[in-house]
Amino acid sequence: MATTAAARLTNTKAGRGARRLAPDSRVPAALGAAGGTRWRRCILRRYLRWCVVMSCACSAPDVARHGGVASSEAASSEALPSTEPLLPVPLDVAVDIPLATLGQALFFSPVLSQDGRVSCGSCHAADRGFADGKPLSEIPERPRTATNSQSLFNVRFFYRLGWTGRFESLDAHLDFLIKNPKLMGTDWSKVVARLAASTTFKAHFDRVFSDGVSENNARRALIEFERSLVTPNAPFDRWLRGDKRAISPSAERGYQLFKNYGCSSCHQGMAVGANMFERLGVMRDYFRDHPSTSDADLGRFSVTRREEDRYVFRVPSLRNVALSAPYLHDGSAATLQDAVSIMARYQLGRDLAPGEVAEIVAFLESLTGEYRGLPP
Ligand code: HEC
Ligand code: HEC
Repeated sequence: MATTAAARLTNTKAGRGARRLAPDSRVPAALGAAGGTRWRRCILRRYLRWCVVMSCACSAPDVARHGGVASSEAASSEALPSTEPLLPVPLDVAVDIPLATLGQALFFSPVLSQDGRVSCGSCHAADRGFADGKPLSEIPERPRTATNSQSLFNVRFFYRLGWTGRFESLDAHLDFLIKNPKLMGTDWSKVVARLAASTTFKAHFDRVFSDGVSENNARRALIEFERSLVTPNAPFDRWLRGDKRAISPSAERGYQLFKNYGCSSCHQGMAVGANMFERLGVMRDYFRDHPSTSDADLGRFSVTRREEDRYVFRVPSLRNVALSAPYLHDGSAATLQDAVSIMARYQLGRDLAPGEVAEIVAFLESLTGEYRGLPP
């Protein structure tokens, strides 16, 4: 049963290699290591400037040295295919299917919220790349969020979480969500009481755990579900693994532009991002042209209060990015074309021709992988 489920979770190849974790495996530790950020950014700036000036092809070894934090899970899964700055998502990841299936039920149930009206799925929909398709999340009974909802695909590989990278682990982030009055507005003891009072959930917990409903078990299940949201086998990954017909010539040219212009100096590694911080507006002042309307624009400054962190964000992952429009922390870029043009202009100081934007978009579309979902 577990093997079949694992096979359905990813793809056939993945299923063969998938390992079932012991049900008592512990909540995963912090996803990324702390520290080294300023150093990384400093190296990155110099590297980026060099790329822009030389119009060079950014080579992987340089990139990997300062950005490799989040790749640790990947590195062990297979031999690196080449010197490319991007790595394929592993075909087999370990998922405890019964645990993740319980987590999925919790994720889509309003039982987590105090007023029983909101679930994680209210803002992270499976058919929208686990984002919500809106510039800012607007759901009944809750204030509008300050930022655009993020895709949760491949979150297990991310270095820090959220637009500002404020959270270092899924566990710490989950705590924030449960207690935040604007989201779930509750606490774990009340969640546990509601779960224990629900015959369906109580029976489900009893099937998965010998000690039934508890805070720790609910956390473990939710986190295992988040960690199961992996999308292997994107056309671009097949191309990386040697199938040169997996992507169109236009997408292939887009990838060359992505490297030559220096997009890959920030969006790199397995998640094509999510492993470093960078300023929005490296080469041109973004906020002079788009006057700030919200504290959310301050980026990491709101976490660290350090001047150098003003307008600095965690570089987002571009895996499955075609599924999660609109874009940017403020949801201001309606289409992928808009987001690519903004990036070229403000991060690289270039105004791209429409044909170049289209090719980069074709490449980004080839980053959509396969997600089969968990068994019901
Ligand atoms: C009201 C809408 C809303 C609800 C409900 C919600 N989220 Fe989110 N989620 C967001 C927004 C907006 C962000 C981006 C937050 C930020 O960093 O500014 C986000 C970010 C995240 C991230 C970080 C992703 C990344 O790229 O780092 C994770 C993980 C996450 N949410 C999981 C959950 C889980 C689990 C639940 C349920 C317990 C949940 N969310 C409920 C709107 C929501
Ligand atoms: C200097 C680092 C850097 C470079 C270079 C860079 N980006 Fe970005 N990218 C970022 C940051 C930081 C964000 C998040 C900005 C925000 O939302 O405030 C981002 C956001 C994006 C987004 C939106 C993702 C989402 O989920 O909303 C896309 C698409 C994107 N970049 C593509 C590109 C492309 C294509 C290039 C090259 C033309 C590029 N980037 C170059 C740092 C960079």
